[in-house]
This record gives sequence, structure tokens and C-alpha cells, in this order.
Amino acid sequence: MTNDDRTNTDVTILSGEEELLLGHEADGIKELDNNLPRWWVWLFYFSIAFAAFYLCYYHVIGIGKLSAEEYQEEMKQGEKLKAAAAEKFQAELDTLEPSSDEIIIAQGSQTFVNLCAPCHRNDGGGLVGPNLCDDYWIHGASFSENLRIIIDGNPVKGMIAWKDMLPPKEIYAVASYIYTLRGTNPPNPKPREDQQSTGPEEPSDFE
Ligand code: HEC
Repeated sequence: MTNDDRTNTDVTILSGEEELLLGHEADGIKELDNNLPRWWVWLFYFSIAFAAFYLCYYHVIGIGKLSAEEYQEEMKQGEKLKAAAAEKFQAELDTLEPSSDEIIIAQGSQTFVNLCAPCHRNDGGGLVGPNLCDDYWIHGASFSENLRIIIDGNPVKGMIAWKDMLPPKEIYAVASYIYTLRGTNPPNPKPREDQQSTGPEEPSDFE
């Protein structure tokens, strides 16, 4: 028989394999009853043992922590770290000076444009929020007073408390940035709160 005469249902049984042949066949495919490789069998036993150990460790005795519990613990740890950092920041607030580091100012400027400009205007001239460039400050002109109002906000007047949204480093950076806006006299600023007309109120741009 040449190669060309063979069909794909022809089977070659090697010598010694006859006794391994199982007595069934499907479409000419036969099966030999070979032993499984030892390494495979051991791997199989090992995975059974591992599954039993895993089940007991995590679910029956419950010594091991499940992912949800690990997550909760790490979150708690993270909250603790955050609270400690915030506490330290608040404790040293009065001793802080505005940074003059270009990188910190640049970071602060970025935060300002993203989060503060919608209310204080890109140049700090004031919209809903007051002008941050003049020398009148509702909540005090010192750097630490600026920090404090950014941290605690004044929600009744529309200033958000940023302490839960921004880490101390970012609050420090944005406060340092707005410190550089002092005296910049942007065009068309919001009038100082102590000099606003007391006449009949005109509808604001937002009404
Ligand atoms: C939703 C609008 C809004 C946003 C956003 C906002 N502010 Fe304000 N901000 C205000 C208002 C309104 C006041 C005035 C509060 C008052 O009258 O007590 C204010 C007050 C302030 C003051 C005190 C000004 C003064 O005269 O004492 C500072 C400083 C300030 N904001 C900084 C920031 C910074 C920094 C950000 C961004 C991280 C920011 N604000 C985001 C609305 C906003």
C-alpha cells in the first residue's frame, strides 16, 4: 500500500499494543489503555489535597482571610493613615508658610483650574466664590486662615469642605498657588464683599 492509497481511517497498531487496545471504535479511531504519566497523576492528587486544605483553611475553620475581609482591613488601615495625616496637617497649620517651589505651585495651579475655577474663575477674579486677588478676605488674610477655609469650607455659603476630597499635600499646594494671585488685579473682578452695593439686589448671572 502506498501513501496515496491510505485513507484517514487506516490505523497502524504497533507490536505489543494489541493487548492495550480497548474494544471500541468510533469512525476508525481506537483507544489504547495506556497508563497516565506519573507526574500527571501526582499533580492530580496534589490538586485534590490542595482543594481540601483550601476549603478547610478558608471556609470550614476560617483561619484564612477572604478577599472581602482583606479589603476591609486594608481600607481601615488606609483610613487610619489618612486621618493621621490630616490630623498632623491641622496641628501644624499655623506654622506653615506658602511654598515658593515651582513644582508645588504648578500642581496647585492645576488643582485650582480643575476644581476651584468654576466658582472662583480661572484667574481668581471671583464668580460665585469671592475674588481671591484683592486684599479683602471674608475668612482672614493669613495663609493659615486660607488653609483652614479650604479644609473646612463654609457649606452654607457654597464653599466646599475639601478635607475629604483632597489630601493635605494638594490643599497645601492649591493654597500656595492662590497666595501667588494676591494683588494680580484681574480684569472685571467680583466686587469686594465689604463694598458690595446695599441697594435692591439685581438678579445674578445665574438666575
Ligand atoms: C461650588 C463653588 C466653589 C468651589 C468649587 C470652590 N469655592 Fe472657594 N468659596 C466659594 C464661596 C461661595 C466662598 C465664600 C464663602 C463665604 O462667604 O463664607 C468661597 C471662599 C473661599 C476662600 C475664602 C475667601 C475669603 O475671602 O476668605 C478661599 C481661600 C477659597 N474659597 C478657596 C477655594 C479653593 C482653593 C477651591 C478649590 C480647591 C475652592 N475655593 C473651590 C465657592 C467655591
